[in-house]
Amino acid sequence: MSERITVSLAARSYGVHVGTGLIGRAGTLLAPFARGVVPVVTDENVALGYLDRLLVTLDEVGLDARPIVLEPGEGTKSFAGLEGLSNALLETGVDRGGLVVALGGGVIGDLVGFASGVLKRGIDFAQIPTTLLAQVDSAVGGKTAINTRHGKNLVGLFHQPKIVIADVDVLQTLPRRELLAGYAEVAKYGALGDADFFAWLEVHAPQALAGDTASLTHTVAHSCRMKAAIVAGDERETGDRALLNLGHTFGHALEAATGYSQRLLHGEGVAIGTVLAFRLSAQLGLSPEADAARVAHHLKAVGLPSSIADIPGRRPDTDALLSHMQHDKKTKDGHLTFVLVRGLGHAFVTRDVPLQAVRDLLAA
Ligand code: NAD
Ligand code: GLY
Repeated sequence: MSERITVSLAARSYGVHVGTGLIGRAGTLLAPFARGVVPVVTDENVALGYLDRLLVTLDEVGLDARPIVLEPGEGTKSFAGLEGLSNALLETGVDRGGLVVALGGGVIGDLVGFASGVLKRGIDFAQIPTTLLAQVDSAVGGKTAINTRHGKNLVGLFHQPKIVIADVDVLQTLPRRELLAGYAEVAKYGALGDADFFAWLEVHAPQALAGDTASLTHTVAHSCRMKAAIVAGDERETGDRALLNLGHTFGHALEAATGYSQRLLHGEGVAIGTVLAFRLSAQLGLSPEADAARVAHHLKAVGLPSSIADIPGRRPDTDALLSHMQHDKKTKDGHLTFVLVRGLGHAFVTRDVPLQAVRDLLAA
């Protein structure tokens, strides 16, 4: 059972395959884009469950797969990680006509996408995302980056993959907390642009998150369809792509204020940030308070944090949060950029939010 979604970008268009049993068929899916040496980059956790299976399918179609296994964690998405990976890729002998495969979560996908985008001035790559966050968000759309000491994702480029293979079976081994963090990005799609999908999730999310593959496939495929449509219309984020940042201005500030630690995963920050964006919209008279309550209720019901009070430990300071927002890379000319809503499913981008309104909301 699988679905194929197209990201339409003229000569850079590609398919996103979503379904079950796809890693077992990955060799056949990748073969049209590859020849000879195929570096397969993954992390130690993912390698345990899925690397051998992928190597066998590549071997079956006559490709010379070369595994590169990296340390798991955000620290790998760094200048040092880029240097190590670039050298490892060069040692495989992969040439400019080759294909590099990223098998893993957003850390592996972002790093491999960036490394292949700059190696020999650009080599093709494929994404085989293994977290829910990567399947519905980071593997689709071509944003690649590494972190710097000045902040996350500040050095990167747009480099679209040749194909994305999202096998929902692999989500069975994902730690529950990571699965839920990825789910925050799924709920975000409904909240920003599709109230019917949000209503579907309110009914079906529990079974999807319990591993039901039919509901998971629909959940991932619909999210990818929404992202594909937005990216096709605005690849470089000069307009509507910014809608995908619903919940992220608050979320990034919360992540920064909690030191990018295990206290708050990215998706958990997005969950709280999405509720805050709905509450801010209600406070500004743009959206019903009932919609903010509905979003908060759903996120809480699946097991996600939905308010700043849900973050363990000391409550992040309001001034510190405002200061982090002002340093966000999406801030332009000192104006905070927010994605707000005019009701569930109707997000819009604004740089017109009074700072005092944000301060009042955070202090409440
Ligand atoms: P991750 O890649 O660190 O994976 C989370 C953890 O799960 C890791 O320990 C990993 O080893 C493990 N794991 C992965 N797949 C597994 C599986 N199937 N079974 C068991 N364990 C598994 O984290 P993530 O949440 O996937 O990605 C976060 C990164 O994505 C951040 O760096 C963020 O900046 C980036 N991101 C990028 C974009 C984009 O558009 N490029 C969008 C959102 C997030
Ligand atoms: N993750 C947001 C984007 O791809 O634009």
